[in-house]
Amino acid sequence: MSQSRSRLGDDRMMAPVSASIEPDNAEFDAHAGRYREMHAAVLGASGESPEYFAQYKLSVLRDIVELDDRPVLDYGCGIGNLTRLLATGEVEVHGYDPSAKSILTARSLAPTATFHDRLDTVPTGAFGTVVLANVLHHVEPAEREQVIREIVPMLAPGGRVMVFEHNRWNPLTVRAVRRCEFDEGVSLLSEPDLNRLLSAGGLTAVRSRFIVFFPKALRFLRRLEPRLARVPLGAQVCVWGVKPS
Ligand SMILES: C[S@@+](CC[C@H](N)C(=O)[O-])C[C@H]1O[C@@H](n2cnc3c(N)ncnc32)[C@H](O)[C@@H]1O
Repeated sequence: MSQSRSRLGDDRMMAPVSASIEPDNAEFDAHAGRYREMHAAVLGASGESPEYFAQYKLSVLRDIVELDDRPVLDYGCGIGNLTRLLATGEVEVHGYDPSAKSILTARSLAPTATFHDRLDTVPTGAFGTVVLANVLHHVEPAEREQVIREIVPMLAPGGRVMVFEHNRWNPLTVRAVRRCEFDEGVSLLSEPDLNRLLSAGGLTAVRSRFIVFFPKALRFLRRLEPRLARVPLGAQVCVWGVKPS
């Protein structure tokens, strides 16, 4: 299931990526209908909504990797929380998720984006940025490096991968994950795990930052967050790397 709205020129549509890590089940099909509700329930303590966290990730993306005019891929886009924010401008946006039911919702939220529920329809050599927002902890640990290896060919030379993950060193985050229906059985990654993973997957200049420190009740302190980037207590961690040119 991929839409044919891509504006990528033929010269940027190289051979499709090999799909050896194509997930064989789409676990999130079972959650698609109630995903937002379940997500909102576990965010209760923060006082914020799923939309707030999607907007936060977009701000971090803009700040760190400086989205340019090359296409963006939201890898593991789910119901399109972040895709729809990315797809409001001129930049071409694609979303990939193995859950076809999640893609149905994402398509209605982000009608101008191009969606894929199969890896072999995702263009290669095309993307300036690929973002994985809270995806990797849903991938079996033994398969995570291969996922990064399969994303690298999708990037244009010099393209960037940005990963957002739950910070397993933050006790409140760990408690929220334990209570989250769609996170049952996941294993969280540490910041060093993520740094190693991106390097092992073929990316260079890998760097990281802790984000999301203060709940809504303490929002007057949020302006301090950029200065806390190395304090390993943020609710989330983001790690990014560059495809060698
Ligand atoms: C917690 S949801 C996050 C969805 C979205 N990125 C967001 O921020 O709302 C995790 C998503 O990862 C997807 N996923 C799981 N394994 C995957 C894999 N191997 N490749 C790509 N996506 C995967 C799931 O289908 C699900 O939609």
